[in-house]
Parts: sequence; C-alpha cells; structure tokens
Amino acid sequence: MIKSIAIEPLKKQEYYKNVTLLTKEEVKQALDGAIQKISDALPMFTDKFPGPNSFGHVYEPIENVDWTNGFWTGILWLAYEYTGDEKYRKAAEIQVVSYTDRIDRKIEVDHHDMGFLYTPSCVAAYKLTGNEMGKDSAIKAANQLASRFQEKGQFLQAWGELGAEENYRLIIDCLLNIPLLYWATEVTKDEKYSDLATKHMVSSCNTVVRDDASAYHTFYFDSKTGAPVKGVTRQGYSDTSSWARGQAWGVYGLPLTYIYTKNPQLIDLYKGMTNYFLNRCPEDEVAYWDLIFGANDGHVRDSSASAIAVCGMLEMDKYLDANDPLKKSYLGASHAIMRELIANYSTANNDPNSNGLLLEGVYSWHTKRGMEECNTWGDYFYMEALMRLYTDNEWELYW
Ligand code: GLY
Repeated sequence: MIKSIAIEPLKKQEYYKNVTLLTKEEVKQALDGAIQKISDALPMFTDKFPGPNSFGHVYEPIENVDWTNGFWTGILWLAYEYTGDEKYRKAAEIQVVSYTDRIDRKIEVDHHDMGFLYTPSCVAAYKLTGNEMGKDSAIKAANQLASRFQEKGQFLQAWGELGAEENYRLIIDCLLNIPLLYWATEVTKDEKYSDLATKHMVSSCNTVVRDDASAYHTFYFDSKTGAPVKGVTRQGYSDTSSWARGQAWGVYGLPLTYIYTKNPQLIDLYKGMTNYFLNRCPEDEVAYWDLIFGANDGHVRDSSASAIAVCGMLEMDKYLDANDPLKKSYLGASHAIMRELIANYSTANNDPNSNGLLLEGVYSWHTKRGMEECNTWGDYFYMEALMRLYTDNEWELYW
C-alpha cells in the first residue's frame, strides 16, 4: 500500500498546455550537434571513460571504477541507434567487456548503483544487439543489487557496510536502479528480483517522499526493528529542502516502476512530485540545484535535474489518460525545458571546446565538486530525451 500525498495545482498548467512544441527538425539539429561532440570524444573514451563531471567543461579519462560509467556507454548506444554507425556499437561492445570484468572481479560494486552502471551499458547491449555477455553481466549486477536488500525496513541499502547503523538508509536515486531488478525477472523468470524491487519501491514511496510531494534525499530506518526513523540529506541543501536532482529521480523513477507494476497510486505520486518540481522552476525553466532556490538567490542551476525530469514526463505521458487535464501540460513542459536546454545549455550551441553535451550541471554543492560543469548523467538524459522526441516517444527503453 502506497500512501496518498498532496498534489499541488500546477501553476503554469495553462501556459505549458499552449507551449509551441519542438519540431522534428529542431530536435534533429540538436541531436546532430550532440553526435558531433560524441564522435570527437570517442577515441579518448573507448578504452577509458569520462569521469563523473568535467573540469572547465572538459572530461578527463578514468577507468571503469565510478558509479557513473554506465552513462557514457549508454550515450554510445543512443548514438548507435540514431546514426546506425558501427563505430559506436564497437566502442560500446569493448566497454561491455569492461563491465563484465568489473562485476566478475567485484571492482567498486559494493553500493546500490548497479542499475545506473549496468542498465544503459549491458542491458542496452542485450536489448539492441542480443549481446549475451551483456545479459549475463547485467544479471550478475542484479544479484549484487539484490544482495543489498534489508528485510528490516524492506529496502535496498544504498551505501556502506550492510546493516551498519550509520548507513541503514535508502535514497531516492535508487528508483532508477530497481528497473535492473524488474528486467532480471523478465529474462530469468525468477520473481525474486521484481519482488525485492516492488518492496523497495513501496518503502521509498512511503518514506523518502514527503506528504507534500517533495522528496528527502535519503531516509533512515531502525536496523533492529525496521521502523522508519528520519529523512536526511546528503546532496541537497538541507534536510527540509528538496534537492532538485533527487526530486527529478522521483519524477523519472515513478513512471519506470509504473511500467512494471501498473500500480495506479504511482500516478498520483508522480503528479505530486512533478507539480512540486515544475512549480519551483524559474521562468526560464531550468531548475536551480535545490528547489528551495529561485532566480534571485545567487545559486547555480542543475541542468541534469531538468533533463532527468523531462525523461520522466515523456515516459509517464504514455500512461496518462488522454482526458487527463495535466497530460498536455506535462508534454508542453517537457518541450519548454528541452527548448531551453538546447538553446542555452547544450555544448553544441554554447561551447565549441567542451567534450561534454550539457553545461551547468552540479555534482555536489557541499563538496563544490562539478559546479557549473557537464556531468555524464546530465549528458545521458539530455541525449535520451532528444531520442524520445526524435522518435515521437517510441524509443525503446534501456531501463
Ligand atoms: N545518484 C547520485 C547523484 O545523483 O549524484
């Protein structure tokens, strides 16, 4: 049972309803610009990967050791789908071997981000090309994620030593990791994966989502009893604010779990979280890094949060009733945000020297890491959103 939450009215409902949608030609131009950047970056990032965030808008190479590597491989698969050019497929296949080695040797996999790592890389490889190595490695990654399930509290522990009091918590980001478990059930027919995913999803909806439809970043449970304890931020501004990217992980995570569960309560949660997000975006649409901030607060944007939210709105568009008064507004909002990202945040239109795709993301405000920089997830979800628009939202999900 998922709790009911408040659904704020969408302030710009009428405005968004009447937004001029991007044309196919505008989307194609944006995709072509992104493809040029990806093509130029490919030689450097075939045997190595871009790090999580750029420095001065330029990514440096790293090994396959971070939670973010999967986004670059996902970008290569999207580039392959869009262009049909074998060079992207070959590079992505080289990287699938690297993910296999990583999960086999358990290199930096003691955390919940198995979905971010293995879905856009190995699941995509299997879905697009039948790559059996990708499939096997993604199933191993699903097992690794499943091993983090805590009976007491019914959730997948995000980080740290399993069971440790200081890390006995889930985080909202994990809604994007659990599609790996649903996929694993589809291919293995073993329901243990989807069972854990659904338990985690229900626990998340009932805790990390507040009653006003905003989100905590993380939520603690009592390790002895499993009782919910408290919401605490790690990357947001404060425990009571709503970190923009966390809210966006909810906006996309809910439709992704709806696909597999068809639980109608998720649609209400989605509307609440999406309205909360859109109502706190500035006039020019791109979210500040924490939704507590507006245009006059001297804070920076997180373009990646907006790209993630667009993918969520486009995905949920498939499941909203044709007569739903919010349906057209969400579609308009997703186009309005993308128009702004393409014009003023894409490197293709704004920074010829960058090897990333999307400017003005934030990795971590508290540690001042990746401030006003590209980050690989922002790049990936920008590209995914473009592919969704280019294919009239018929792009087949990796998630
Ligand atoms: N999942 C970690 C982040 O969004 O920064």
